[in-house]
Amino acid sequence: MNEVKIGLIGAGGIANGVHLPGIEAARGGKLTALCDIDEGRLTAAAERYGIPENRRFRDYRELIACSDVDAVDICTPNYLHAEMAIAAARAGKAVCVEKPIAMSAEEAMRIRDAVKSAGVPSMVCFSNRFRPAVRFAKWIMDRGQLGEVANLYVEYLKSSAFMEGRRLEWRFIKSMAGTGVLGDLGSHLIDMARFLIGDIDGVTAQTGILVKKRPKIDSDEIGEVETDDYCHFLAEMSGGAAATFSISRCAMGNANSIKFEIYGAAGALAIDLNRPDELGVCLGDVDRITEGMHWVRVPARYRASQMQSYIDIVRGKGDGIAPTIEDGVACQRVLDALVVSSQERHWVKL
Ligand SMILES: NC(=O)c1ccc[n+]([C@@H]2O[C@H](COP(=O)([O-])OP(=O)(O)OC[C@H]3O[C@@H](n4cnc5c(N)ncnc54)[C@H](O)[C@@H]3O)[C@@H](O)[C@H]2O)c1
Repeated sequence: MNEVKIGLIGAGGIANGVHLPGIEAARGGKLTALCDIDEGRLTAAAERYGIPENRRFRDYRELIACSDVDAVDICTPNYLHAEMAIAAARAGKAVCVEKPIAMSAEEAMRIRDAVKSAGVPSMVCFSNRFRPAVRFAKWIMDRGQLGEVANLYVEYLKSSAFMEGRRLEWRFIKSMAGTGVLGDLGSHLIDMARFLIGDIDGVTAQTGILVKKRPKIDSDEIGEVETDDYCHFLAEMSGGAAATFSISRCAMGNANSIKFEIYGAAGALAIDLNRPDELGVCLGDVDRITEGMHWVRVPARYRASQMQSYIDIVRGKGDGIAPTIEDGVACQRVLDALVVSSQERHWVKL
């Protein structure tokens, strides 16, 4: 196949931080078109990546229809993912979509069905699957070196809710985001748990909002924050392990901290994504006797790039461990169960 021609929709934070530089650095694909409803963001990204005027779109349907686009990359707010992904699949274009892939499991299944019936390649951006420590942990888990897994202790802590001058952007509005940190940060942890340990069978959750009011985007009128600032939940894994998850955007002192600890009968692993190239291990007899967790350097072969993976999938050369739309659906089912649990205050079986 020739170079994959990629059209990106939504030139905001994650597009500029990860997708656009990732596509530029990747082999076998190139950015050919861009779409955003915000003129300033569209122009800035287009100028930076050399996209000509006739390949800059304000309407995503025109980007999808463009003959110079084989593969679509969706980086818009959550409520737009499904309509854009389904339209791309129906047009026969490959689909890459940011997490959480939809607003509900029902919507996620509609994306899955559209992608399946069109037979187009697809991927979901659960970006932690591309981190070296997580891939190395997966290799160790697949070898069964931890024995029976008993417990997971997982946290994702940020302080972004306290960012100076933050307004009532889409993340704080239910009809645009679905949930708050639950879908935004929790979806990453749910996918990591499924990737490393297995499915989640049941959950019980507690959520809350700490910063309840913010100035609206276009005026100084004050509006209500509608999405969760924190979510804590217990989960029962299908293999029997018991897990605790702590997720917050109000944890002062934490810019972006993801910790993921797995405890089994024969050993333990610790991931700290502020140290993405290291893995905490307690595996041998000596480690166990001394109760030592030591940090080892992850071998270079576990390095991966999210956008290179998408291009490889479109070219039929995926590595088989990148997140699929089916993973997106499974994650969404857990998110839906967590919402029900937090509202009704009881365990929800999946
Ligand atoms: N994988 C990750 O680690 C990660 C990190 C951050 C965000 N995300 C996800 O990426 C998505 C975008 O988040 P963000 O932080 O970049 O948001 P953002 O608000 O910074 O960017 C979204 C962009 O989409 C544009 N947009 C909105 N409506 C549009 C439309 N109808 N057509 C075209 N463009 C439109 C906006 O103008 C904006 O430029 C979300 O789903 C979020 O959950 C993922």
